Amino acid sequence: MAGLDSLGDVRGRRVLVRSDLNVPLAAGSDGQSRVTDDGRVRASVPTIQELSDAGARVVVTAHLGRPEGEPDTRYSLAPVAERLGELLGRPVAFAHDTVGPAAHAAVEGLEDGDVAVLENVRFNPGETSKDDAERGAFADQLAQLVGPSGCFVSDGFGVVHRKQASVYDVALRLPHAMGQLVATELEVLRKLTVDPARPYVVVLGGSKVSDKLGVIDNLLGKSDRLLIGGGMVFTFLAAQGHEVGKSLLEEDQLETVRGYLERATESGVEIVLPTDIVVDTAFPSGEREPQPRVVPAGEIPADSLGLDIGPSSARAFAAEITDAKTVFWNGPMGVFETAAFAEGTRAVAQALTEVDGLSVVGGGDSAAAVRQLGFDEAAFGHISTGGGASLELLEGKELPGIAVLER
Ligand code: 3PG
Repeated sequence: MAGLDSLGDVRGRRVLVRSDLNVPLAAGSDGQSRVTDDGRVRASVPTIQELSDAGARVVVTAHLGRPEGEPDTRYSLAPVAERLGELLGRPVAFAHDTVGPAAHAAVEGLEDGDVAVLENVRFNPGETSKDDAERGAFADQLAQLVGPSGCFVSDGFGVVHRKQASVYDVALRLPHAMGQLVATELEVLRKLTVDPARPYVVVLGGSKVSDKLGVIDNLLGKSDRLLIGGGMVFTFLAAQGHEVGKSLLEEDQLETVRGYLERATESGVEIVLPTDIVVDTAFPSGEREPQPRVVPAGEIPADSLGLDIGPSSARAFAAEITDAKTVFWNGPMGVFETAAFAEGTRAVAQALTEVDGLSVVGGGDSAAAVRQLGFDEAAFGHISTGGGASLELLEGKELPGIAVLER
């Protein structure tokens, strides 16, 4: 697949770059929204910088959150554009619409090497429409912004699993290439699917087993050990016949999970479940101090819910991880946002930093946890910017935003 070089000389040309700038925001004491985790913004910088250094007129398009196809100030990319400008060390123009007069004015004002960010692409219903013609019409408008000598760079790895106008349809209309971030993500994640160094250990957490069915299905045939924590573990414990109290339980997945446990035994893949759990009688809410208690995994009291893996399990998981040559981790082990329930996630993250081989943190909550718990990002082999996208890649699915670049 073609990289930036394939576009030829970009000096003086407008280049539409699809980045994934979907980052958390919070209001500061002055009431202004600010980016609270700029991981994805930092990961987007190298491609924008390279194009700018080569004299391109860079037009960045991205989404934030899931607005309903119309402008909504809560989802404005303005604070993100500001952070991008700080990281690039140069002013970044911001257009208060996506393909309207402000976007055209911002794009026309660009000199060689300048950068503009367009407002949230999901403020337009055409972006996420299931109707090809509606999406296509919006992609035409995006393509028009860069004119006849323009081109498209796909660099929003976190969104390449979406068949959306700025990810997919625009690539059908403009000369296109993949950016540095997409190239790096594909290179690393393919090491997990094509002949991974063994032992290959996968750590899965997060709240719902139903979000991970495809990946478990695929990995049962590929990994050596599957360590399960987070909210999804209670469906596994219940499938083994344990009481799980008030813990998260997906009853409709019990049969599927029993099937996984049987298949794992038959295929020699070890599914490792926690042997102890940190419980409380209520989900942490800030209304009272947490009252964590460690109980055996098979003895969760009826009035309690599991909120983290226990200390013995954390040690066992860490030992399995550090013994591996390839590790992929997606999903926290507990409610890591609350200190009392963060130790399982911390132990897993720490173990990944000690792997003598390739350690990959899947995006989304696990990447956020690594940063929130204060780990040095350089200590991991790779921290993916894609949550859903990296899981779908591991499931072996074709990602529309990648497949289209091959056309
Ligand atoms: C993400 O946060 O995983 C990506 O930015 C994609 O966002 P989406 O799930 O709203 O499409």
